[in-house]
Amino acid sequence: MDTTKDFKMDEIQAIEARHSVRRFTKKPVEGSVRKQLEDAVCQANEEAGLHIQLVCDEPNAFTSLLARYGKFDKVENYIALVGPKSRDLDELCGYFGERLVLLAQRLGLNTCWVGGTFSRRKTACEIAKGEKLVAVIALGYGISDGVSSKSKMLSELCNTHGLAMPDWFKRGMEAAMLAPTALNQQHFIFTLGRDREEVICQSTGGPFSNVDLGIVEYHFEVASGHKVSGSAVERLRSRG
Ligand SMILES: Cc1cc2nc3c(=O)[nH]c(=O)nc-3n(C[C@H](O)[C@H](O)[C@H](O)COP(=O)(O)O)c2cc1C
Repeated sequence: MDTTKDFKMDEIQAIEARHSVRRFTKKPVEGSVRKQLEDAVCQANEEAGLHIQLVCDEPNAFTSLLARYGKFDKVENYIALVGPKSRDLDELCGYFGERLVLLAQRLGLNTCWVGGTFSRRKTACEIAKGEKLVAVIALGYGISDGVSSKSKMLSELCNTHGLAMPDWFKRGMEAAMLAPTALNQQHFIFTLGRDREEVICQSTGGPFSNVDLGIVEYHFEVASGHKVSGSAVERLRSRG
């Protein structure tokens, strides 16, 4: 299958173009676009031991008052972020979920992370014993591409010990600043080690802050080409 024809942009362009979109058209997610999302979900599950599920043509999770209050309309497709309970689950869902968000954006779809304003009970996914539904990602063809959100200043979101910032670190930070976070709280801080090589990222608290942590780490790694140390993904990779 020729999949390259489906890509509208590269991953960095997707970081720049992505905004939360909560209202969708009735156009179904189908054909090779759907197949690529399904394959990417399988790959994430294999890599991270998660139980992420793509649910299509299912309106019930977003028909409650809560969802309408959250300004959602015609959400009939979503990704359910499910996995075995562990201290790293939220962060892994953030990291691998955002990888799927950027793929969806590259395929011409729009998305919105949703932790609160949907019906967990009506979400059509399988949650096995010992697993948890962390959040969902609504997706589809949006009625618009959304708008930019206000961001904190770069200096509020990182610490370089007063030293000049390497270009790669700045690129990573700019991408992290464009990342979605719950309530747009941006409760994270990246620290560049005194060796000018090691980077760590910490959450400063708040609802879904570990999911946010995984999301911003993914943006940082894509744009900077540098891995974040001490992350859930690093622990996953070190276990082989
Ligand atoms: C973990 C997480 C949970 C979220 N939960 C909700 C939600 O329950 N309802 C909602 O309308 N938006 C939700 N959002 C979307 C954020 O409000 C949005 O990402 C933020 O305001 C920044 O806007 P942007 O995504 O357009 O950059 C959530 C985002 C994240 C990352």
